[in-house]
Amino acid sequence: MAVRIGFIGVGGMAEHHIQTLRRIEHAQVTAIYDINQKRSQEVAETYGAKKSFESIDQLINSGEIDALFICTPPFARSGIEEAAARQGIHLLAEKPLGLHIDEVRIKERVIRESGIIHSSGYCLRYLDIVAKAKAYLAEKQVDLVLAYRLGDMPGMRWWTIMEQSGGQLVEQSTHQLDLIRYLAGEFKEVSAIHEKRYIHNIDPDATAYDVGTVSFVLESGAIGNITSSCLAKYVGRSGVEFYGHDFYLSIDGGTLRIKDDHQDVTETSEVDFYYEQDKAFVEAIRTNQPGLILCDYSDAADTLAVTLAANDSAASGKPIIPGRGVPFVKSN
Ligand SMILES: NC(=O)c1ccc[n+]([C@@H]2O[C@H](COP(=O)([O-])OP(=O)(O)OC[C@H]3O[C@@H](n4cnc5c(N)ncnc54)[C@H](O)[C@@H]3O)[C@@H](O)[C@H]2O)c1
Repeated sequence: MAVRIGFIGVGGMAEHHIQTLRRIEHAQVTAIYDINQKRSQEVAETYGAKKSFESIDQLINSGEIDALFICTPPFARSGIEEAAARQGIHLLAEKPLGLHIDEVRIKERVIRESGIIHSSGYCLRYLDIVAKAKAYLAEKQVDLVLAYRLGDMPGMRWWTIMEQSGGQLVEQSTHQLDLIRYLAGEFKEVSAIHEKRYIHNIDPDATAYDVGTVSFVLESGAIGNITSSCLAKYVGRSGVEFYGHDFYLSIDGGTLRIKDDHQDVTETSEVDFYYEQDKAFVEAIRTNQPGLILCDYSDAADTLAVTLAANDSAASGKPIIPGRGVPFVKSN
């Protein structure tokens, strides 16, 4: 049986998901909505979706979808997840889940209550090399973590507006922060510095920072740092390095390196993480196996909470202890 899929927000990321879903057996894109109606209709026609809708409500109540990809920018998620979950529609919400943790926690509660399958866009978790790193690090004591995300500024208008994107850590380096949570455990405390060095010369209306760094302590006691910049147009680099007294492990883009007393191995990933993520979502729905999903909505909300805590720290100049989701107990 095919899983019928709808999209809300069909910009660059959504189009990539749609192209990916075309390669996945049992996935069928049936319904599209974008606030830009011209774009909505074009995408529906290009990819053979049954219908382009004129509102979110129409799409959600159409009876045409079993599952929904939410690919609007993070400032434009109001009411979508709750409405879909109440209709029993399974959800994949792109990262970051939003810009206000209280709103996201309310959505999380409705989603969990509904019993739907839920996933998020933390695609790096689906890399084969990340699975290997996770197995290796399970046996090790991590003492220091060094992470970075350096590159050019994305072209979307909303990206340079802090109130719309949340800034680079919330919007992009969130992938590296999420990998740290996935591989080395929860964050205990964050201290951040964000500065605007040059961004006004590129975009006079920008409110987002262009260089930022977060120091942190994990619950394990390990310490670390994540450095981000969107001014680095001559190099595009993203990675996470883990150091311990008896090993070194790095994930640099799609390449894993492990060095210890017995080995010095380098391995490049052979999988398309978007394909693996979207396939896991479709198969989880088809076979009712939520365990196939490596980062569900609640897990993604915990990552968001840490990145927003870093923003609070940068604004206040004080270390912040990120809040964590409470264990879920279904009400009657
Ligand atoms: N997981 C990843 O690797 C990855 C990569 C890129 C982007 N993303 C995420 O995907 C999301 C979208 O990013 P993008 O690059 O596609 O942005 P984009 O600007 O290219 O596309 C956003 C689309 O949403 C539409 N939109 C805006 N407000 C809307 C609303 N209220 N209702 C319906 N549609 C609305 C816009 O018209 C646009 O077509 C972001 O959250 C981004 O962080 C994830």
